Amino acid sequence: MTGQTRFDIFLITAPGLEGALCDELHERGFGDAGAEVGGVTIKGGWPDVWRANLEVRGASRILARIGSFRVVHLSQLDKLARRFDWSQVLRRDVPVRVEATCKRSKIYHAGAVKQRVETAIRDELGAPISADAGVRVRARVEDNVCTLSIDTSGELLHKRGHKEAVSKAPIRETLASLFLRQCGYDGMEPVLDPMCGSGTFVLEAAEIAAGLAPGRSRDFAFEQLAGFDKKAWQSLHNPPPTADTDLRFYGSDRDAGTVRMSTANAIRADVSHLTSFEQQTVKDLQCPEGPTGLVMVNPPYGGRIGSKAQLHTLYRNLGLALRNRFSGWRVGMVTTEIPLAEATGLPFEPPGPFIDHGGLKIRLFKTGVLK
Ligand SMILES: C[S@@+](CC[C@H](N)C(=O)[O-])C[C@H]1O[C@@H](n2cnc3c(N)ncnc32)[C@H](O)[C@@H]1O
Repeated sequence: MTGQTRFDIFLITAPGLEGALCDELHERGFGDAGAEVGGVTIKGGWPDVWRANLEVRGASRILARIGSFRVVHLSQLDKLARRFDWSQVLRRDVPVRVEATCKRSKIYHAGAVKQRVETAIRDELGAPISADAGVRVRARVEDNVCTLSIDTSGELLHKRGHKEAVSKAPIRETLASLFLRQCGYDGMEPVLDPMCGSGTFVLEAAEIAAGLAPGRSRDFAFEQLAGFDKKAWQSLHNPPPTADTDLRFYGSDRDAGTVRMSTANAIRADVSHLTSFEQQTVKDLQCPEGPTGLVMVNPPYGGRIGSKAQLHTLYRNLGLALRNRFSGWRVGMVTTEIPLAEATGLPFEPPGPFIDHGGLKIRLFKTGVLK
């Protein structure tokens, strides 16, 4: 696959957020983006893969679909996998691991598919196979078609690379960015999180306003692939695109440790000049001076805090503070249950779909402008 070749690039997201990710891709100039279950497909070449990994906030992983063929038995898979030109994407000096799945196909044994593809890569290309390799090939056999993909991201993309400290229940940066988007946030208004934990919403919002690319501080698996053009990649990377902003982004939390964490994370992310964090309970929350904007929060959910009654009181206090002191602001709240959202007394629109977040089902509740 040369720099000119075009192929399908699949950007994975949590089911329920495909539309929001598709919007982001259109906005970033990936014109042919189309939503599918669990992600969005675009067509492009390697420079598009690099740029998507660097710039797209909402995708959790980006796959390059490098080939597909029809297979109905294992000996055929063996032959076709051996015939595949692995040297166009993999390097013989870089270890590889293979993952396989089978669905609705004559070949139903994922372990056998994995073994055939591993053997082909090892024998035909000479690359070592290792269970903890940074480069991953995915072989998916579905309806008797084997699709080969490379995971171009490596570590999940919510790991932005500039956040060392995380609180107990952080929301993933990728989800946070899509929830901000669904609340209409476009980097042109302040954002405040009164239960900020490690500061995810505040940092994402500040970075968007400052025009900072989410992948600017990390490595990607594609840097280990054949044909990776370091010079071209660096020209995408440098200088980092930045926008001037006078906006401010606010976080508070009752826990002093998380406030220290958020402050340290903001420094590492290079947005500390735009953010302020303080220790405070929601009861004492005050509206900052200056333009109105968006309150974005994920309070503790059921199961993570003692009794239900305590949890309802917490949501009620949050709602009281926002209804009494945040006229002109909008609210986005991520939580698990409608009764918790109702406990705030805030005028939420019907909630968004359930999104899986580490086994928990969360959803976005949002208001219009508060009176
Ligand atoms: C689910 S976590 C938020 C995680 C955060 N969004 C992040 O990404 O790290 C909920 C946070 O609410 C904070 N909290 C709980 N009760 C609070 C209260 N009464 N006032 C302010 N913060 C509170 C907890 O300390 C915790 O950091």
